[in-house]
Amino acid sequence: MDANNWTQLWLTYQRIEDIKGDWNISYSGFDMEHRIVESGVYEFRNALEGLTGENVIISQDEEKNQNASTLFLVRDEGIPAQGYFVDSDEKGATIKASDENGLLYGIFALIRNVACGKRPGEIREEKSPSNPLRMMNHWDNMDGSIERGYSGNSFFFERNNIIISRRTRDYARFMASIGINGVVINNVNVKDAASYLITDRYFDKVKALSEIFADFGIKLYLSLNFASPIELGGLPVCDPMSKEVIDWWKDKMKEVYDQIPDLGGFLVKADSEGRPGPFTYGRTQADGANMLADIIAPYGGIIIWRCFVYNCTQDWRDRKTDRARAGYDYFKEQDGDYHDNVILQIKNGPMDFQIREAVSPLLGGLTRTNQMLEVQIAQEYTGHQIDLCYLIPLYKEVLDFHTYCKEGCDTVADVVSTRTFGNRLGGMAAVINTGNDYNWTGNDLAAANTYGFGRLSFDTSLSAEQIAREWIKMTYQLPSDKEDVLTDMLLRSREIYEKYTSFLGIGWMVTPGDHYGPSVDGYEYSRWGTYHRADHLGIGVDRTDRGTGYAQQYYRQNAEMYNDPETCPEELLLFFHHIPYTYKLKSGKTLIQYIYDSHFEGEKEAEELSADWKGLEPYVPDSVFERVSERFDRQITNAREWRDQVNSYFFRKSGIPDEKGREIY
Ligand code: GCU
Repeated sequence: MDANNWTQLWLTYQRIEDIKGDWNISYSGFDMEHRIVESGVYEFRNALEGLTGENVIISQDEEKNQNASTLFLVRDEGIPAQGYFVDSDEKGATIKASDENGLLYGIFALIRNVACGKRPGEIREEKSPSNPLRMMNHWDNMDGSIERGYSGNSFFFERNNIIISRRTRDYARFMASIGINGVVINNVNVKDAASYLITDRYFDKVKALSEIFADFGIKLYLSLNFASPIELGGLPVCDPMSKEVIDWWKDKMKEVYDQIPDLGGFLVKADSEGRPGPFTYGRTQADGANMLADIIAPYGGIIIWRCFVYNCTQDWRDRKTDRARAGYDYFKEQDGDYHDNVILQIKNGPMDFQIREAVSPLLGGLTRTNQMLEVQIAQEYTGHQIDLCYLIPLYKEVLDFHTYCKEGCDTVADVVSTRTFGNRLGGMAAVINTGNDYNWTGNDLAAANTYGFGRLSFDTSLSAEQIAREWIKMTYQLPSDKEDVLTDMLLRSREIYEKYTSFLGIGWMVTPGDHYGPSVDGYEYSRWGTYHRADHLGIGVDRTDRGTGYAQQYYRQNAEMYNDPETCPEELLLFFHHIPYTYKLKSGKTLIQYIYDSHFEGEKEAEELSADWKGLEPYVPDSVFERVSERFDRQITNAREWRDQVNSYFFRKSGIPDEKGREIY
């Protein structure tokens, strides 16, 4: 790939009409040589020049150019951390913030407002971030591959080297433009060369990367191998209570922070899917996390400890062990034991990023522990960035979920923002969907998810539609009726994907390993604990008090609601209950008929998405049109495959024909 060949995603700056021309910049309380301030001013220039293609003059106050507009950058200690206030009139704009991050976000907010069609005098926006931590997690391996990557290879790593290029800077700009302030560059499964990121083999480059990020107010984090004392240190164990192990980590972390003082800290996947961890030594997750956290506390570092811990060697005959229970079972007991520079990072659902699952009961279930929500933008189970699946509605549902952990302040958004319990740390993290493809995200439309996650983590009150419209306006120049079409496509897409794949919260009918395309029984008899339990009478997992008891992990109101099939939200019916095919849903339809109907509808709606896209051909760049069209073709093939396999499977299992007599193979 040509080293300088990539798109500018949503920073295309095609609509900046109303602020073109020369500008003065006036600094008050901000140092114009501060790197983040410089980045902001540079971006402002980018936006202005992006419009006209001409050079603009950006001067300092002293040389004030009478005909120019003025951008006032003002430090105001009254603005909350990383927040901003943007105001404007015909003569210019003012951005107030109490810190450099806030100032940078304010500049991006000004640009965004203009790019979205607001005229200078109309722009007035005051925001402070909903979440203190807003992070991207890359699952990039050092050989350049990306675990669950669907848009090329890594732009951080190649053949066990760290790559630093203009693309690195562009990436940091994109992230800052949506309010991201932390990035983990390497895969949570830390193996091979990645274990050496904390050694002098890589210090120089990691430091250089961290400095580029710092210019955009972003902290760099690393995923850590819990077995480093063994793999790097040659010790026989990595027991977190062993003095030798603790001493090894102390020396190691001193070395790391001497070299990379700005490092934000570490993300740790321990005791999960074959990764090493404290359980090996009979220690708790808290023992492991606290040991590392104490060692890096003096350097201001934090430990982000993942809660994706479960038994991945189950037997399908065992109906007691329920993977959905595992997170809560392992982590709730030590609530309050985690030190205050540890955050538990919790996947949105208790299973694994399915198109629909219940919200993890750990969120808000923990009341005395820093906690952070983890979602997946990379479309592992949601269409591999081939199928269109706008995920912001899913994230919104999770954020808006009432946990009942505290009256009046109990949504997941409340909990992870730290409002509910006054935790020291909290926020949102996403497994990102980028790679070194020309358009960064494989499917051009998948960038709406990248953009959307950042915007949502900064401002959880935004709606999925608002975010979609912003992204469209910034990325393309569509007439407003066409913007409506694309917005609507995005907003429909998740339910369409759900309709032709798995239904009513059951999940997992994907091709094992790869997770694209149907395989109804693919995971049914394997060790992963991911069963749908379909037989000739019905389908679903009994997670009630008569079954695995998972539903009882929620606060009472939710526990009761989920426990009864009559009150359980229908879209999660099979997540919580084993239901006969003849069961009547609220619509009056039987379950089996619902399965058939939703699969026929889903396939048809996938075709409609593709047809809608065809109608946008005159309005989007040709290359975008072609790339996305090709993906819609594949989506339709996929939808047919799903429809036919799922319908045939359940027809054979149940022996009940489709009421409408459609073709089932
Ligand atoms: C899923 C995914 C893995 C990943 C894991 C994780 O199981 O398939 O590739 O490593 O999640 O979140 O750690």
